[in-house]
Amino acid sequence: MDTAAVILAAGKGTRMRSKLPKVLHGIAGRSMLGHVVQAAQHINATQTVVVYGHGGDKVRSLFADANLQWAEQAQQLGTGHAVAQAMPAITATNVLVLYGDVPLIQPQTLLELLALVSDEQMALLTLSMANPDGYGRIVRNAAGAVAAIVEQKDASAEQLAINEVNTGILACRREFLAQVLPQLSNNNAQGEYYLTDVIAMAVANNINVATHQPSQPWEVDGVNDRTQLARLERIYQRNKAQQLMAEGVTVLDPARLDVRGEVIASEDVTLDVNVVLEGRVELGENVVVGPHCVIKNSVIGANTVVAAHSVIENSLVGESCDIGPYARLRPGTELGRGVKVGNFVETKAAQVGEGSKINHLSYVGDAQLGCNINVGAGTITCNYDGANKHLTIIGDNAFIGSNSSLVAPVTVGEGATVGAGSVITKDVPSGQLAVTRAAQKEISGWQRPQKKQR
Ligand code: UD1
Ligand code: CA
Repeated sequence: MDTAAVILAAGKGTRMRSKLPKVLHGIAGRSMLGHVVQAAQHINATQTVVVYGHGGDKVRSLFADANLQWAEQAQQLGTGHAVAQAMPAITATNVLVLYGDVPLIQPQTLLELLALVSDEQMALLTLSMANPDGYGRIVRNAAGAVAAIVEQKDASAEQLAINEVNTGILACRREFLAQVLPQLSNNNAQGEYYLTDVIAMAVANNINVATHQPSQPWEVDGVNDRTQLARLERIYQRNKAQQLMAEGVTVLDPARLDVRGEVIASEDVTLDVNVVLEGRVELGENVVVGPHCVIKNSVIGANTVVAAHSVIENSLVGESCDIGPYARLRPGTELGRGVKVGNFVETKAAQVGEGSKINHLSYVGDAQLGCNINVGAGTITCNYDGANKHLTIIGDNAFIGSNSSLVAPVTVGEGATVGAGSVITKDVPSGQLAVTRAAQKEISGWQRPQKKQR
């Protein structure tokens, strides 16, 4: 059946103490609302309607290309009122109510919930908890069927003892909601239009209320403050680490790995402590990522070692490379097989062919390097003339002596040698040696200055 996901996101989020609307606060680099939108996409919701209020423009602009529908709730008059704002936009047969501040809900749980919905039945996601304080309680009749939800503030002492609570997430026919939402009243302890009152209305209309529980309690945890946000971040990261370990990745400390995106890892990858993986990261077989590395939107080929403190972004690293420690591969870096990029080397928009080495203290930017090149320590491609960027091309088997400056645009031919300390401003033909440093001279009898006697 086609389903409209309605995501309530109008709340102010006062306890976040933030200029940013609450649902834009992130977990694993994606906003909470983004997580919920993604869950709706995973269950193939035919439409997703976001009910927004506070900071709505910011929210809408950030999700401009997400194919969402928007319903404004100018005043927060309660969860029932919020859903009512979305109703005019809904054409789907079923409605699934979700929350922008309940980010870790799992698609599987939602599918199980939706499977319970029919013309004669609505579905409620509930949770049994030892301490139900603050939640709406699920009231059942003598036969055990759900009769109503009573909010904490409206509950009797007897009802407060109930351990089964309302998670807020529910699913039912659109037609049913369209019929009962206009009948809600705000005659209750909080003066709000409670969505939860539709439960008793369902029962009165001979619609059975089925319940389902999430497989993990954290799926329905909401975020009201930054402590709760941090807690869900840790839960999310623990799950990611477990997932990677199940796929054959060694994670040296699951509590010290952060995944902010999608990781495609082959077997026997090793991730040392405090690794951060962002965006889409692909790690080939036997890749070792040392401690304190950040890898973003990159592919790392099989058997490559990324040593401690390296930062790699938008790069393609070939197989069997040695990167770092302390290497920085900036966007557009493409390394062939067996390339070595050592400590304090920065690359950008640089193609480096198989077997080439840039082992120490270099900047290689806007450059095309062939195979088996040795780039000596301290070599700089001077790619920027203050106005424009220019290309440096180095042919196969070239040798660039230490502390050379290659002033682009410039080409060093195949097998050419650049003497250490040279400033290369003209192309170097293949096979030749270019040296631009001043010739060494010796001064005999040279006396070093002496300290003055006092
Ligand atoms: C609600 C449920 C309660 C449940 C609890 C689970 C109702 C009446 N009660 O209570 O049974 O146990 O969630 O956390 O539904 N929102 C709007 N517009 C509004 C009001 C709320 O968008 O006018 C959004 C909030 O931003 C929030 C969510 O709805 O994301 C829940 O609202 P909140 O006021 O926190 O409801 P609770 O009192 O926690
Ligand atoms: Ca709440």
